[in-house]
This record gives sequence, C-alpha cells and structure tokens, in this order.
Amino acid sequence: METLRWGIAGPGRMAATMVEAFEHVRTGRIVAVGSRSADRAEAFAAEHDIPRAHGSYADLVADPEVDAIYVATPHPQHTDIALAAIAAGTPVLVEKAFTATVEDTRAVIEAARSAGIFAMEAMWTRFNPAVERIRELVARGEIGDVRAVHGDLTAFRAYDPSDRLFDPALGGGAVLDLGVYVLSFAQHLLGTPDVVHAVGGTFPSGVESDFSAVLGYADGRSATLSGSFTTYGPGRVMILGTAGWIDVHPRFHRAPSLTVWREKQAETLEFDSGYAFEVDHVADCLARGLNESPIMPLDDTLAVQQLMAQVLAQVRG
Ligand SMILES: NC(=O)c1ccc[n+]([C@@H]2O[C@H](COP(=O)([O-])OP(=O)(O)OC[C@H]3O[C@@H](n4cnc5c(N)ncnc54)[C@H](OP(=O)(O)O)[C@@H]3O)[C@@H](O)[C@H]2O)c1
Repeated sequence: METLRWGIAGPGRMAATMVEAFEHVRTGRIVAVGSRSADRAEAFAAEHDIPRAHGSYADLVADPEVDAIYVATPHPQHTDIALAAIAAGTPVLVEKAFTATVEDTRAVIEAARSAGIFAMEAMWTRFNPAVERIRELVARGEIGDVRAVHGDLTAFRAYDPSDRLFDPALGGGAVLDLGVYVLSFAQHLLGTPDVVHAVGGTFPSGVESDFSAVLGYADGRSATLSGSFTTYGPGRVMILGTAGWIDVHPRFHRAPSLTVWREKQAETLEFDSGYAFEVDHVADCLARGLNESPIMPLDDTLAVQQLMAQVLAQVRG
C-alpha cells in the first residue's frame, strides 16, 4: 500500500487540527469524513477539501475506499466507532483518552486482538521527536536509572457546562483530558505503579477541575503529577535519574526542547513536534504487519486507563 487512505470520524475541533497536520504526513491522505449529520459532514468536507462525506459513522466505516479510521469524537463515543471499524476489518487510530472507562478500553482491545486488526491510542506525545530522544538517552544510561518523574499539564478553561470538557456524558474533566498526558508519560518511563494516591476538586457538573496524583513503586521510584482547568501553568516535566536529569520544556506534550543535565553540565536540544509522527507510525506498523504499536502498545493504553480510573475514583469520591 503506497498511500494510506484515511477516514475521519467526528468533524470537530481536533479533526480540523488533524487535517492541517496531514500536510506533514508522508504516508497517507484524508479521503473521507463521517458525522452524525450529513450537513456537518458535507460542510467539513467542503471546508477541508475532503472528497467524500458520510452522514453516519456506520457509512464511514462501510466506505470501501477507506483504509484506516481516525476517531476524533468525545471519549465515550470512541468505543462504538472503534468496535465497528474493527468488525469491518479497518485499522483504527483512536484519540486520547482511548475511551471513558476501563471496561470500554478492554472491549476495544479484545475486539482488536481477536480480529487481528491494528488499533492504537493517538497519544501523539510518545511519537514526538523529543520523546523519541528521551527514550534513546534513557536507554543509553545518560541520566542513570530513572527514579522519578514530576510534571503538570494545566489549561485554564472557563466553566461552561455545555462544553464537552465539563460534561460527564461526554467524558469531561481534567483527568481524561489532561491527566492522560502526564499519566501516560510517567507510565512510559517508569512502568505501571504499585500504588496511586490522588486528590483534587470538582466543578458543579461533577467532573474534576483539578487533580494531583502520586504514583508509587515498590522499589521507591515515584511520579508526582498534576493537571488543572482552573489555573495557568507551564506544562513541564522533569525526569530524575541517578546520574543526571532531563528538563522537558513546556509544553512537554509537544516539547520544543529538552535540557539534559549530567554532572552539572547542561545540554539543550531542540525538536519539531506535531501529529504527523503518530500518523506515519501507524502506516509504518501496518507496512510491517504489526497489529499493535511497540511505542504505544494496547497494554499501556489499558494501564493508563486503569490509572485514570483510580485517580477519578479518589478525586470524585
Ligand atoms: N491530541 C490532541 O492534542 C487533542 C486535542 C484536542 C482534542 N483531542 C481529542 O479529540 C477528541 C475530540 O475532541 P474535540 O475537542 O475535537 O471535540 P469536539 O470539537 O466537541 O468535536 C467532537 C466531534 O465528535 C462528534 N460526535 C459524535 N458523537 C458525539 C456526541 N454524542 N456528542 C458530541 N459530539 C459527538 C461531533 O460531530 P457530529 O455531531 O457531527 O457527529 C463533534 O464534531 C477527544 O477525544 C479529545 O480528547 C485531542
């Protein structure tokens, strides 16, 4: 397959961002968009020069000219579209958070594995070149053994119960929207923790406004992580090792630069970032016959979904 033909499910804000990102994608193009409404699908297709528009997600999934589907609906609405695509034999790239619940994540993973169809969470941070370099630096022992990760992702949002970010039915709240990044980052570097302690607050709609979480490991390693819709903050991560540390500069989920500290010597490295890296990675996996990404494996997606569930249970009470 020379060029992967992508269909987008959910013509919202992120879908529009992804269309722009496709200008940098080497391996594919967008050929179709699906919506619950034919009018919205057609408007999005016309605005973004997409050849085909479908007035239902079922029609998008049934389109024989679509090789892979990118799911950009709100989190709880990822599940049915991902399951339908997998049942139709079509690979899926599913926006973060992968689903709204552990049960839904398990259902998608089981369906993908039993059908032998590729599925991946669109955790784009793991594919950005800065994080690729972090993996290399850590693997080479440049900062020794990683013992701790400290980080925040904060995005002030004025409370608006009509926005999906504040609506429990649409997977709202700071944990699924922002926490997924810090939790996935720590899980990538440290593995899945033994204990999770979390505190935070909620909006009147019941979704969390802020959270702070400590991840603990039996061998003494730890992560301290936070996220918030009520404050402004840098979105910065520090990775602490036995021989040095790495500052992942704001905003870490699309890091423009790193400073690597070894024996009081600092080296700053600069990077591109964007969504094209994860999209090209999907094409690479498919070309290699892989049903899962080695960088964002489904077991990690499940582990992070379980961490989010623990944080949610402790913050929402
Ligand atoms: N990776 C990133 O940097 C990033 C950034 C922002 C968002 N995201 C993720 O992208 C996803 C979409 O976020 P967004 O901000 O683009 O949301 P959005 O602007 O609200 O758009 C979501 C789209 O989903 C469709 N949809 C399907 N079922 C729906 C339902 N029951 N209720 C509401 N909409 C429904 C809607 O299209 P129709 O009504 O036309 O079907 C809507 O256009 C989320 O999972 C979010 O976490 C990722």
